[in-house]
Amino acid sequence: MTSIIEKRASLHKHLADHQEQNNALKSQITELQALANVGTITPMIAHEMNNLLTPLGNYAALALDNPDDKLLVEKALVKMVQSCKRASKIMQSMLAMADGKTQEKKNVRLIAMVEEIFTCLCRDFAKDGITVKIQIPEELAVCVVPVQIQQVLMNLILNARDSMFRHGGILKITATEGNEAVQVEVTDTGCGIAPDDFKNIFDSFFTTKTGRMPASEHTGSGLGLAFCKKIIDAHGGSISVESQPEKGSTFTLTLPKPH
Ligand SMILES: Nc1ncnc2c1ncn2[C@@H]1O[C@H](COP(=O)(O)OP(=O)(O)OP(=O)(O)O)[C@@H](O)[C@H]1O
Ligand SMILES: [Mg+2]
Repeated sequence: MTSIIEKRASLHKHLADHQEQNNALKSQITELQALANVGTITPMIAHEMNNLLTPLGNYAALALDNPDDKLLVEKALVKMVQSCKRASKIMQSMLAMADGKTQEKKNVRLIAMVEEIFTCLCRDFAKDGITVKIQIPEELAVCVVPVQIQQVLMNLILNARDSMFRHGGILKITATEGNEAVQVEVTDTGCGIAPDDFKNIFDSFFTTKTGRMPASEHTGSGLGLAFCKKIIDAHGGSISVESQPEKGSTFTLTLPKPH
């Protein structure tokens, strides 16, 4: 009789111990997940800050080189303030991601997001022989985390500009409303993507911008498109590409419509 009671008590103790171990493992997993998030976010922050710091430095240099041109200095300062605000929004968004927080999606006009990106890019596209054509209906809206989708568009625009480096061409951004989603296309008439590279372009650290090739003025880190894919997947959208060597490329995004 006693042995049954004893057995029961020991079984209970066993169960309680297991429960405790289970809880400890669960909290360890949560901590590890947070660390893994930081690991993903760190290169992302460095990459995006670099995208913004380059034009920011150029604006500052422009103002310093032309101290007597009051209008130019003022314009450069306004752009610098806008870039700093964007940098701060990107930081906040990434720190929230590192914390595992879901960020609020908002209904935003697509054209407003695109225009803000162009105000943060210092270099005049026309100076590189690039004509920019934007065909987005004024009221077309999407339901997204704005700062993240701006990161995606910024990366696609910078890649398009790199692809037309030295030769110039046309950068076209168009958007249309479908039944299920909004479709955005970023098209360039640049160098295109070599068939062998096609399957790798969304991989982290894949880059053909090695500094040795004349395809771009800078050395790439190969993170831009990997981040774009991560962000678009998190929005339940899609990103795809069509390209022809020497003719150009079109990146197509689908983004959720406002509810
Ligand atoms: N519009 C484009 N035209 C031609 N090639 C492209 C285009 N966009 C991307 N690629 C190719 O895909 C590769 C990966 O692009 P991704 O944006 O991920 O990295 P990157 O531009 O090389 O470096 P980073 O964006 O980190 O500065 C590029 O190196 C390039 O070979
Ligand atoms: Mg890139």
